[in-house]
Amino acid sequence: MPAVVLVGAQWGDEGKGKATDVLGSRVDYVVKFNGGNNAGHTVVIGDQKFALHLLPSGILTPGVTPVIGNGVVIDLNVLFQEIDGLIERGVDPSALLVSSAAHIIAPYARTLDNVTERFLGKRKIGTTGRGIGPAYADKINRVGLRIGDLYNEQLLHDKIEGALEQKNHLLVKVYNRRAITVDEVADELLGYRDRLAPMVTDTSLVLNQALDRGETVLFEGGQATMLDVDHGTYPFVTSSNATAGGACTGSGVGPARIDSVIGVAKAYTTRVGEGPMPTELFDEFGEHLRDVGHEFGTTTGRPRRCGWYDAVVTRFATRVNGLTDIVLTKLDVLTGLEEIPVCVAYDVNGVRHQELPIDQADFAAATPVYEYLPGWSEDITGAREFSDLPQTAQDYVMALEKVSNCRISAIGVGPGREEIVVNHDLLHARGE
Ligand code: GDP
Ligand code: IMO
Ligand code: MG
Repeated sequence: MPAVVLVGAQWGDEGKGKATDVLGSRVDYVVKFNGGNNAGHTVVIGDQKFALHLLPSGILTPGVTPVIGNGVVIDLNVLFQEIDGLIERGVDPSALLVSSAAHIIAPYARTLDNVTERFLGKRKIGTTGRGIGPAYADKINRVGLRIGDLYNEQLLHDKIEGALEQKNHLLVKVYNRRAITVDEVADELLGYRDRLAPMVTDTSLVLNQALDRGETVLFEGGQATMLDVDHGTYPFVTSSNATAGGACTGSGVGPARIDSVIGVAKAYTTRVGEGPMPTELFDEFGEHLRDVGHEFGTTTGRPRRCGWYDAVVTRFATRVNGLTDIVLTKLDVLTGLEEIPVCVAYDVNGVRHQELPIDQADFAAATPVYEYLPGWSEDITGAREFSDLPQTAQDYVMALEKVSNCRISAIGVGPGREEIVVNHDLLHARGE
């Protein structure tokens, strides 16, 4: 499996960090291709818990080369804070490579993120406040700053001046904030230049050469399918392509080189921020999932909205990403429930929808059509083989596989690195 893409199949926080970490020992490169420090990936190794934001989760595996691709937006202050935090804990991040074409989250992008949200009022997105949207907007508007610009002071000054010309009008006249000077931005960014220099390279070239040598590259998506700016629940999305196609544009590796696409999905559904979520629960079951699943944001600490598994969403994820496999996480969180509803279709104003309605108003009006599956009460955290799971848990997984239209190749039964069932039995039953 030389080139593998791993993406979130729901609204984020599916356990992509853990899944990447589990695959880590079998790969040579782990590439972050989209997003920035809006991501929050928790990886648990023994009694140590790591929260990663900007760095690819592969950074925790010795021997792996972590890469920040051109599709990422980088807050340099956060990058070095995270690097220093890992060094303090004995992790060696010196192999990290950073694309010279990746964009920088300038200090004014964070300011704009927060004031825009405030001005949107009840129409706000519920962003992470990390400057992600404004940084990508600058990229698309062609007034963004790229990592490579740090190494040409005159060019950097010119670009900051160009960007600020319009932004200062906006900040001062519309948002009533103070104007920002070119020098203060340039000085802050140039402060990182020398330390960053050894990491900066043409990462597309590095990755393609690695694939030519037969090495294995894992592309780790931030955010998720339903937060993708094209395919997600627009406008309640992030500002990048979190679906599989983003792995190619965000890294400079062509689609024909990709061998498999893994979608990570929770055995139920969560969402952070605003926007519709058909299976959201407002009752004691929602609270139960939040408590047992520790569903609080890794980045912002916000409580996550919780609901039952939505197979319309994962079926959609299978389609738009071309998923070859699903890694199903947090099955252990469902232990103890007598019966588990699974959303198999939507009712939209009296009409049954098998597929995700792409119209915003239709999706907002969707109510779930549930099938009810029997639960299990046995502790499953020690399961390592599919046959170790109670029969009703096996049946639940097989039912999800069917309604999600994709094989489930691994199942998370706890947060730890080793708490995973590789679904050999199912693979074997299919003759693989
Ligand atoms: P990511 O953003 O997709 O990497 O996911 P997060 O790290 O934000 O959230 C997933 C949370 O679930 C983390 O706290 C993980 O440690 C935890 N986790 C991952 N897989 C499992 C699992 O199979 N069972 C349990 N109980 N927790 C898990
Ligand atoms: P990981 O990689 C869950 C959500 C925010 C908000 C919307 C836009 O850990 O799965 P942004 O700051 O990106 O402009 O916010 O997207 N969001 C996430 N939700 N997990 C994430 O990342 C997220 N990154 C952004 O809550 O609704
Ligand atoms: Mg997360």
